[in-house]
Amino acid sequence: FLDDLPFLSPDPLLSVAQQAERDHRIGKLDLTIGVYKDRSGQTPIFKSVKSAESSLVQNEITKSYLSTEGVPTFCNAIADLILSPHDVTCNRLATVQTLGGTGALSLAGRFLSDNFPESVIWIGTPTWSNHVAVMRQCDLNVQTYARSLPTGGRNFAALMDVLTHKARRGDIILLQPICHNPTGDDWSKAEWDEITVQIVKAGLLPLVDIAYHGLGQDLASDLTRLHTLVEQTDVTLVCYSCSKNFGLYRDRVGALLVAGQSNVQPQALQSQLAAIARTNYSMPPAHGALTVGHILTTPVLRQQWENEVESMQAHLHTVRTQLAAHKQIGPCNVQTIATGRGMFCMLPLPPTIIMLLRNEYSIYMADNGRINLAALNENNLLQFVALIDRVWAN
Ligand code: LMR
Repeated sequence: FLDDLPFLSPDPLLSVAQQAERDHRIGKLDLTIGVYKDRSGQTPIFKSVKSAESSLVQNEITKSYLSTEGVPTFCNAIADLILSPHDVTCNRLATVQTLGGTGALSLAGRFLSDNFPESVIWIGTPTWSNHVAVMRQCDLNVQTYARSLPTGGRNFAALMDVLTHKARRGDIILLQPICHNPTGDDWSKAEWDEITVQIVKAGLLPLVDIAYHGLGQDLASDLTRLHTLVEQTDVTLVCYSCSKNFGLYRDRVGALLVAGQSNVQPQALQSQLAAIARTNYSMPPAHGALTVGHILTTPVLRQQWENEVESMQAHLHTVRTQLAAHKQIGPCNVQTIATGRGMFCMLPLPPTIIMLLRNEYSIYMADNGRINLAALNENNLLQFVALIDRVWAN
């Protein structure tokens, strides 16, 4: 039966990350996958997570199934965190625990494709390397537009062209309001306000991906764009990941939230999402969601977690400032890195240089020149810059 199966190329980002892992040469620098590293180059478990886990181990009395929608404390705490009643007025229509941010995107994609089979989903590129694949896997018709200008920088005109001319009523638009992956170059507040106005005018459905909450400016400011959207649109779907801002990558914790001004029956919506989850994986895993729920509802742990996120943001900010101070690295003007947000920026290096750095010097970045800024620190940043300058000069 399976004799003629074609070989599928591995995910490009994951395969470079694996190549980096297998490389044991001295001086290796892995700037590939979006995993936070502290100033000493480690990815430790958060102290708040360790404390919450100890308490769970002591007090957990069953490993019986969760409901399809997940841990209620987690779902409520995440909805409160993202849609705090003090900051935003909207109807909370549904919250479902998901298998990380990818699980949220996949659940949302399947829901949208089941209910809006004729709709196009518009995705600006470059984007997270899995966005297009996940949406195609959900049988959605994906159309892309150039989010970046050929010279770098945001291509606001291209997005406006989609919103005002190309998209039809009922189409979906995928957006990252903060910490854009891979560019780190977020829409300005004025641009976002205009985007929101046009989404409403054109009758589009926004699907929002938030995977780096707190790593942009701070936990509160990082939500203002989302709040603008949910306050003005009928319905916004939000895919939220706890991988980075709780460091729970392998525990697969995330959520799909639906919010807006619509008076849709929340029970109907929740039942649709639950039905998709049931046929995919039945129930989500408990451990990570119980941990996050416990942290967010225990004031002392919550404060500790907020401090930990703040220190991650501060490290990223320092690296951005230090890199940008070089003004030019090889052929790349890096001055705008200082005003970018989140874990990534892009170094527009030719592919030959990216491969040379990888093969000859054990410096690993994504094929498109995306780098994980958290992996740079005072022990390696200067060498990294000097090496690119040298390789480029030769
Ligand atoms: C990344 O973009 O590096 C992360 O979101 C990890 C992943 O799954 O690709």
